[in-house]
Amino acid sequence: MIEDKKVKRVLVIGSGGREHAIVDALARSSRVAKIFCAPGNAGIADKAECVDISVTDIDDLARFAKDNNIDLTVVGPEAALAEGVADRFAEDGLAIFGPTREAARIESSKEFAKEIMERHGIPTASYRAFDNFDEALAYVKSRPLPAVVKYDGLAAGKGVVVAPTYEEAEAALRDMLLGAAFGKGRVVIEDFLAGPEFSFMCIVSGRKVYPLAIAQDHKRAYDNDEGPNTGGMGAYSPVPFVTDEIREKALKEVMQKTADALADEGIHYCGVLYGGLILTAEGPKVIEFNARFGDPETEVVLPRLKTDIYTLFESAVAGVDCPTSWNPETCLGVVLAAEGYPGKYAKGIEIEGTDKVSGDVLHMGTARKEGKLVSAGGRVMMITATGGNVAEARDRVMADIRKINAPGLFWRTDIGHQSI
Ligand code: AMP
Ligand code: GLY
Repeated sequence: MIEDKKVKRVLVIGSGGREHAIVDALARSSRVAKIFCAPGNAGIADKAECVDISVTDIDDLARFAKDNNIDLTVVGPEAALAEGVADRFAEDGLAIFGPTREAARIESSKEFAKEIMERHGIPTASYRAFDNFDEALAYVKSRPLPAVVKYDGLAAGKGVVVAPTYEEAEAALRDMLLGAAFGKGRVVIEDFLAGPEFSFMCIVSGRKVYPLAIAQDHKRAYDNDEGPNTGGMGAYSPVPFVTDEIREKALKEVMQKTADALADEGIHYCGVLYGGLILTAEGPKVIEFNARFGDPETEVVLPRLKTDIYTLFESAVAGVDCPTSWNPETCLGVVLAAEGYPGKYAKGIEIEGTDKVSGDVLHMGTARKEGKLVSAGGRVMMITATGGNVAEARDRVMADIRKINAPGLFWRTDIGHQSI
């Protein structure tokens, strides 16, 4: 029997909008008494006690969890996973929701992800990996355009070049294999897939897969999907073009198959498996996997979750079933970013009017300075609202954004355009 008392103590690792959404969901739980967030941000501080420990300081995080009788730790960012936070917690017998360093390679190494998919027949673009520039160039020239060139390692969503010409593909290979811009120097080259993209996050516990609601992100900086790739400028959930039939196919042929593939290879996975999928003429295929909740998708998915999120996390850690139920309304969010992002941008931009917003304000990169709310990152905050459909939810968000005064921030006005 799951007890129904508010007694649980939870630590959330991270400091962005994703972690703000996780903290909000935990604050709605009937079982959670106290939430800590390391390091958190100015918005998270309203619902959690922020602790000044960096996400990669895994020894200090484990010590904090032990000293403060934390029942469960939830990991937000990939940097903490790649540092081995889940391995470190497991050594100390501390419960943690997030995959081990080895399991997180499904995100941190594109080549590892591609090999798993190839070995287990999980649909994705054909690819080859190279560390030699001349061989990479010869391969690119043997394939049709556009060419997709990916740096093999964590590059915060910025290590992918879709090159419409051979000259642009060559320049990307030069940068990644010969230049100093990246570091290690290994690339994956893959065929271009055409179709609309969507994000399918599932909670995975070994072979058990609990699907979360489908969302869609918007990676380009400006309206009409123009400008540079970013960490994500807005999202919404559900996504009307992903019908129940497509969703079932993606669940069975991609997400369940991947959970089974990892288990077959002796890798125990506990955490969110994020499928970045593309709906091609042949069905859903994988663009990338992440080993964590997506940002900004989490901010529009978790508000729709009716199931107690603590119970969901706890069930995944224990490996027991946990059915989920969802609010059918659409949740849509728009990111306010500092001008110049994803390139150089200013910090310390003053933000006023967030108290007048009717929807939700999720802080991504904020701080308090002399009592005032200021920006502290490129993506600063996300405004979300729910509505009967995508257009209604977006209208509500745009009306809320007009109440905010923050010269120096910009945002997209067309989030959800593929579904309106
Ligand atoms: P990734 O970091 O792998 O998610 O790639 C970033 C973005 O590049 C994706 O969201 C896609 O828009 C695009 N992209 C990556 N791989 C492909 C591909 N094989 N075909 C078409 N577009 C791609
Ligand atoms: N929204 C894409 C990501 O979290 O990587």
